[in-house]
Amino acid sequence: MEKNIINIKVTDREGSEQIIQAPTDMSFNLMEALKANELPVEGTCGGMALCASCHCYINSDHHLADASEDEEDMLDQAFFVEDNSRLSCQIKISDELEGLSITLAPVS
Ligand code: FES
Repeated sequence: MEKNIINIKVTDREGSEQIIQAPTDMSFNLMEALKANELPVEGTCGGMALCASCHCYINSDHHLADASEDEEDMLDQAFFVEDNSRLSCQIKISDELEGLSITLAPVS
């Protein structure tokens, strides 16, 4: 079976950029894809929108599903929140995200 893979540009907290690849056919979320590529994202709550350790900034203008109320609530309590802040665990990896560009938010 053909594997569906997208490329995501990630800028880490030191400003280094790398392109990671994520499968679109495994129900991964962005937090899991970052962790799978050994980026320093804790994902403490396991993707429940309860910890904000997967906070990132979206740099590209991809259309993402709106943040849920849970995600908004968590971002309200997080540090270093910007207009383009999202919880990466709430972003499903899909074909539409090819070329997404994100920056990891600082840890508080
Ligand atoms: Fe906890 Fe995303 S992993 S909010």
